[in-house]
Amino acid sequence: MTTHNPGLFIAFEGGDGAGKSTQAAELASALESRGLKVLRTREPGGTPIGEKLRSLVLDHGHGHIDAHTEALIFAASRAAHASQVIRPALERGEVVLTDRYIDSSVAYQGAGRDLGTDAVRNINEWATSGLQPDLTVLLDVDPEVGRRRRTAGDAAEDRLESEADEFHARIRTAFLALAADRPERYLVLPAHLPVEKLALRILERVEPLLALPRGVRA
Ligand SMILES: Nc1ncnc2c1ncn2[C@@H]1O[C@H](COP(=O)(O)OP(=O)(O)OP(=O)(O)O)[C@@H](O)[C@H]1O
Ligand SMILES: [Mg+2]
Repeated sequence: MTTHNPGLFIAFEGGDGAGKSTQAAELASALESRGLKVLRTREPGGTPIGEKLRSLVLDHGHGHIDAHTEALIFAASRAAHASQVIRPALERGEVVLTDRYIDSSVAYQGAGRDLGTDAVRNINEWATSGLQPDLTVLLDVDPEVGRRRRTAGDAAEDRLESEADEFHARIRTAFLALAADRPERYLVLPAHLPVEKLALRILERVEPLLALPRGVRA
């Protein structure tokens, strides 16, 4: 399902350290400077219950979390996020920028944890009542570059970030497969480009979407 509402829904996806948060911030300020109302949000999280679920699933110290449980926690957080935050903002006509969405679950739990990409997609489509981004910006990062970036300055890695490079390589392949499946809904960019260059490419792709009237993006 697509967004039959006046807002615009954009997801930033990619491996850990790809530059998602950096580019979401860049796009938010570019759009805000044009007078648009922008809601920046993230997953897991984005709601009070979602932030609690985020710390359950990402923090170390909760013992072993089996793969199905992990997938369902992410889906539960996303259900709250879609219904309480994203849909209402789209209905108000806002631009919603989310740092991660369904594709992250398909890649991390479906491919990374080997639960199967179709199964994970299905539970998430159910959880969100089919709410899909108008555009997904996929920042394609080499797992080694991602790890170097996120551990710069000795930052600690969370439960998923600290998985082996081979896990992150499977995730990268899964993201690229999702984009190849529906190229008209994706902008895939090499994450190693300079921040400003990426920001410009993203803005160029988003601009025409802002001009489209309600319903035409469906
Ligand atoms: N294009 C870029 N070139 C070089 N460094 C970058 C680039 N984009 C972001 N960085 C740096 O890499 C680090 C990770 O960036 P950022 O936090 O935006 O990634 P992320 O995808 O949101 O990561 P995470 O998955 O951990 O949330 C930051 O220190 C950021 O300044
Ligand atoms: Mg981030």
